[in-house]
Amino acid sequence: MAESTMQKIVSLAKRRGFIFQSSEIYGGLKACYDYGPLGVELKRNVKDAWWRDMVHRRSDIVGLDCSIIMHPNVWRASGHLAGFSDPLVDCRNCKERFRADKAPRAVPGAALTYREGGRKDGKKLEGVVPDRGYVCPVCGAGDLSDERQFNLMFRTSLGPVDPMQEILNNMDELHRLQGNERKQKLADIIGASAVYLRPETAQGMFVNFMNVLNSGRMKPPFGIAQVGKSYRNEITTSNLTFRTCEFEQMEMEFFVEPGTDDEWYAYWSRERFAWYTSLGMRPERLRLREHEQKELAHYAKACVDVEYFYPFENPEGEGEWGELEGIANRTDYDLKKHSEHSGKDLSYFETETKKRFTPYVIEPAAGADRATLAFLCDAYDEEVVDKEKNDVRTVLRFHPRLAPVKVGVFPLVKKEGMPDRARAIMDELLGEGINSFYDESGAIGRRYRRMDEVGTPWCVTVDTETLEQGTVTVRERDSMAQSRVPAAGIGDYFRNRLKSS
Ligand code: GAP
Repeated sequence: MAESTMQKIVSLAKRRGFIFQSSEIYGGLKACYDYGPLGVELKRNVKDAWWRDMVHRRSDIVGLDCSIIMHPNVWRASGHLAGFSDPLVDCRNCKERFRADKAPRAVPGAALTYREGGRKDGKKLEGVVPDRGYVCPVCGAGDLSDERQFNLMFRTSLGPVDPMQEILNNMDELHRLQGNERKQKLADIIGASAVYLRPETAQGMFVNFMNVLNSGRMKPPFGIAQVGKSYRNEITTSNLTFRTCEFEQMEMEFFVEPGTDDEWYAYWSRERFAWYTSLGMRPERLRLREHEQKELAHYAKACVDVEYFYPFENPEGEGEWGELEGIANRTDYDLKKHSEHSGKDLSYFETETKKRFTPYVIEPAAGADRATLAFLCDAYDEEVVDKEKNDVRTVLRFHPRLAPVKVGVFPLVKKEGMPDRARAIMDELLGEGINSFYDESGAIGRRYRRMDEVGTPWCVTVDTETLEQGTVTVRERDSMAQSRVPAAGIGDYFRNRLKSS
């Protein structure tokens, strides 16, 4: 069977050093990935572009870098301890554990056939779709356990007390206690040292609202931005880095006066959509999807997702819309909750108007890994160069700002001093901070193709004319056009091209 686009992207990502399975030599770890030498550059460029456009290019947004482990009361106040959960179900037939809200929908009462144990050679069984209207996503059976809420936060413990050891030390007492008293004792032992890996970066901005307001002399409307790791014990993980347990977020909380929130919500929805197209993402593969009332998180007045049409495989074929980023109007929910739980006033007093208010928050929350994956998928192209010769090139058409390597530098041949000139050019480019790659092996055409496959926008070739006239060949990735450019000042030349791209 022909490889799907996604399979080709996954295999290119591994072969060329973008994304590897984590701990691969030990069989890999489900839903955990490592970025290789090119992947780390790509993801860094995505995060840098976000930081530059959201923080450095604006006077109304400042940055923050908070700790991943925060006071457990942060998660009590935010509602994550009580409500950040997915409904989990066990299939009694094949033992698969899955998310009820992601299971395939089916008409209650409709007839079902499935195999015993979910095995291909298992006995054929018959059943009906249960009233809840879904079946097991793996074996298709309707014999399912009740739904249980499963909290997505990773719990760990802080300090010298190991809660497991404490439970062992208290075994006699735990045996004596009954029912709720025993449960309470266990909860007390675990709770004494329990802390959580943050499931979103956002709360760091809310709890530091007053610190930033006072130290940075900011006043609404203004934003606090952060890029960093978040952790969720996701049950359903799929499609490379799309949904993983450890991922990076790029979030910004924009604090505004109540009453101006709808306007700012519309503004940030437009801005964030435009950010992806400004970095070359194809607009026809992007859309804004407004959440219906029933989908809204408990804190949100409105929410719109920027979605990308990923080339994921699914029963209907190739391609499916997936969330890249959510823009939410979180109202004053978070600041008020943290005020209530901490006892600290988090309202703002506007001296000019003598008005006091708790700001509303508009939050554009993006995923760095999801955006990196979307840019990788969007850049992927197979171009027929010569149909008769069956010459097809694989090219990643990254925007130059995102391309992991900006310039490939080659000597045409490995003699006549060309390698030395090429290396000098490479050093000049690296000195300018332009990530470049030197390659002298194989035919020049193959070297160009290798650079196309990793999305390098330009190649420079040192040839006889370089030695005689001081010019080099510059070859464009997208058009494959070639031109001659003076070798002197090549660093300035590419700096300008990057700036104007
Ligand atoms: N503070 C709001 C918030 O965290 P979210 O929609 O849960 O909202 C924001 O997350 C973004 O973070 C998502 O749009 C997605 O890009 C990314 N994200 C969330 N969960 C993820 C996961 N398990 N793996 C990779 N990225 C994830």
